[in-house]
Amino acid sequence: MEMYRRTYAEINLSHLAYNIRAIQKAFPQVGFLCPMVKANAYGHGDVRLGLYLEGLGIRHMGVCLIEEGILLRKSGVNAEILVFRGFDFDGAQKIAEYAMTPVVSSWDHIDHLEALESNSPIGIHLKFDTGMNRLGFRPEEGQKLFDRLWQNKKIRLKALVTHLFNGEDAADENGKSAGQLKALNQLAHIFKPFNIFCHALNSSGIISAMSLQKAKPGPQHPLMLQNWGLRPGLMIYGYNPLADKSIVDLKPVMTLKAQVNTYRRLKAGETVSYGGTWKANRDSVIAVVPIGYADGYHRILSNKSHVLFAGKRVPVVGNVCMDYLMLDVTDVVQNKDLKEFKDQEAVLFGQDHGATLSPEELATQAQSITWEMLTSVGERVPRVYVGGGQ
Ligand SMILES: Cc1ncc(COP(=O)(O)O)c(C=O)c1O
Repeated sequence: MEMYRRTYAEINLSHLAYNIRAIQKAFPQVGFLCPMVKANAYGHGDVRLGLYLEGLGIRHMGVCLIEEGILLRKSGVNAEILVFRGFDFDGAQKIAEYAMTPVVSSWDHIDHLEALESNSPIGIHLKFDTGMNRLGFRPEEGQKLFDRLWQNKKIRLKALVTHLFNGEDAADENGKSAGQLKALNQLAHIFKPFNIFCHALNSSGIISAMSLQKAKPGPQHPLMLQNWGLRPGLMIYGYNPLADKSIVDLKPVMTLKAQVNTYRRLKAGETVSYGGTWKANRDSVIAVVPIGYADGYHRILSNKSHVLFAGKRVPVVGNVCMDYLMLDVTDVVQNKDLKEFKDQEAVLFGQDHGATLSPEELATQAQSITWEMLTSVGERVPRVYVGGGQ
């Protein structure tokens, strides 16, 4: 790989395998485990991860865009690819051509699939809107959908889908998620003659279900109503979105790194970067790190966040630029020869010399969420794969 700027995202495939195994161990009975590899596998590289997941025995994976699914297919992924975004007739043709599974969420979608010229029916998953109010049929439409799809020559219904909008409360028998799961379970009764299964749990739902395994809830708990299929996203990349981090041990898959090659010695009173928003209150050493907001390091983190430098937390000082950010490394390099730090790697998030800096921390500082920090890592940041027997 060409890399003249040593700024890269190290992707640890062994950690991905570890996180997948944590789910498989907790739910040995679940037949549908569909890791979400949309948005370039949350920034980790969808082709490489898709192929690696398949090597781990994963038989289903989820994307948003038809384009994402086509890329996976063209790269050799044979697993079932669920396309969650809607589609027009052209899209329906592509979905069929690349043997993908559409998640059908409107009557138009059904029209487009029925209009396909094909001898064999296309398998679909049917999405219900049980409260997210984004995509999907209303539960009241269940019977009408049954009538349209029963013995349909063009379409074969395989599963029902819903998406939790507040998965953090899934352990609560009376929470929002409980209402959604109960609604989908009701619909499953209508569609029983299709021999369908249902999937609904994202990372927060899955980890909530893990937390309940110890508590052994009764069969009436919404999480226990059936063997819900699983659609983990964030957790396979190493992060638990729930407050209780002790429920499951996950390993962060991505470490974002950049090699420092320039240092500046500042006199007290001098400022750093555009607008001079940070002023040295002592003689200081500033490390110039070749990563900026064009690489996905949000500008809002200026003068707020920290970076690991030689295993120590140091502050980001001055405004983050398009291609660079600056660190006050005075305390770390004090009484040392700066030559020792030539080519020093800075870790923007991830692990370094046993220290950890989480994108969750950055997300809080950036008024964002971990998902956005991961998916923001830019296209011009090469992904370097380690572990996983590679
Ligand atoms: C339909 C659907 N299922 C599952 C997921 C995975 O969610 P999470 O990353 O919270 O596990 C997403 C992510 O946005 C989604 O849109």
